[in-house]
Amino acid sequence: MSSRSHLTTRAARAGAHSPPGEALPLVPALHQATVHGYPDLASLHRVLDGEQHGHAYYRFGHYNGQVLEQAVADLEGADGAVASASGMAAISSTVLALAEAGDHVVADRNAYGGTRSLLGVDLPRLGITTTLVDAADLAEVGRAVTPRTRLVLVEALTNPTVRVPDLPALAELAHNSGARLVVDATFVTPALLRPLEHGADLVWHSVPKYLGGHSAAMGGVVAGDAGLVDRIRQSVVHLGATLGPFDAWMALLGLKTLGLRMRAHSRGATEVAGFLALHPAVTRVHHPSRPDHPQAGTAARLYPDGTGGMLSFELAGGRRAVDDLIARLGHAIPLSPSLADVATTLVHPATTTHRSLPVDELEALGVTGGLIRLSVGIEEPSDLIGELTTALAGN
Ligand SMILES: Cc1ncc(COP(=O)(O)O)c(C=O)c1O
Repeated sequence: MSSRSHLTTRAARAGAHSPPGEALPLVPALHQATVHGYPDLASLHRVLDGEQHGHAYYRFGHYNGQVLEQAVADLEGADGAVASASGMAAISSTVLALAEAGDHVVADRNAYGGTRSLLGVDLPRLGITTTLVDAADLAEVGRAVTPRTRLVLVEALTNPTVRVPDLPALAELAHNSGARLVVDATFVTPALLRPLEHGADLVWHSVPKYLGGHSAAMGGVVAGDAGLVDRIRQSVVHLGATLGPFDAWMALLGLKTLGLRMRAHSRGATEVAGFLALHPAVTRVHHPSRPDHPQAGTAARLYPDGTGGMLSFELAGGRRAVDDLIARLGHAIPLSPSLADVATTLVHPATTTHRSLPVDELEALGVTGGLIRLSVGIEEPSDLIGELTTALAGN
């Protein structure tokens, strides 16, 4: 595989390699075996000690997981990657591998609810404390970082108001204090932004979102420096958080169309955001392409190819208008508690993804009762705009 080819090309060819002399399977074989047989102890020991390539027991790693890891490492420009059973398994293993009792974490208060629960509920019991910040506010991040800070955890684009942290500035800030920058790039994928190229130490993803792309494969993946990845892999193995072979295989199939899909998601979201911004039933649109977006300049600098399919908008009619819109959109644009499918879906963040937060914090984050998050799929944008026009007509 040429290292000079474009990401779209490398993604399309991911996993298509075979032993010398054998015909090339364009889709890698699926190895479901949980364990392998060995002719003698010495050969098993060589594999267990990492002296010889091979697989022993699936929780330690397996062929399909390795193919996915190599593909993601290649697309992220990383030395290595480790797959895990879910995105939460990826971030839990990362924090457990790189922080210990007495350590401190700085994290974006806009982060995914599961990440916030890990930081707020589980880590304090292990003696690891967290300060929550607005990662798009460098001064606030700077005030939060202490000599005990090991990790600065941010999302490349935040949920649901699509804020855009300045990753190169955050990397510099973290490194000046001896901390590592860890970026959740689930919303953007390496097709749009490769955090390691902007100074991040590690990048992680929830695989069922854009990487897999079809709401079918579960999983998580962390990519970065090989030494760090080895430490995280050890946590994944100890926690028993290994990704299953079938999910790894499905995720690789989805990954092959990543470049095309992200282009279509970005175009669709920009067109739909433009339509919503002019609609009288809509009071506010959160999308980095809009001139009133607070980090429009940072977005233009970091995301020359677009920002993917995520946007949110506020209905003038508040919560009641939300219920009406969901009912009118029906199965065309379904209410669905996830994101990043090839088909457009929506959620009501205040009562779903962010339901555990107190009202004052919801307001501070801009998560109002009238806010809807749209995950714009790869459909023709004019079809989506037609459906939204009809559904919004009664609002
Ligand atoms: C941005 C983001 N990061 C991480 C996660 C967690 O991933 P998973 O559900 O695969 O554990 C999610 C889940 O929705 C997410 O939206």
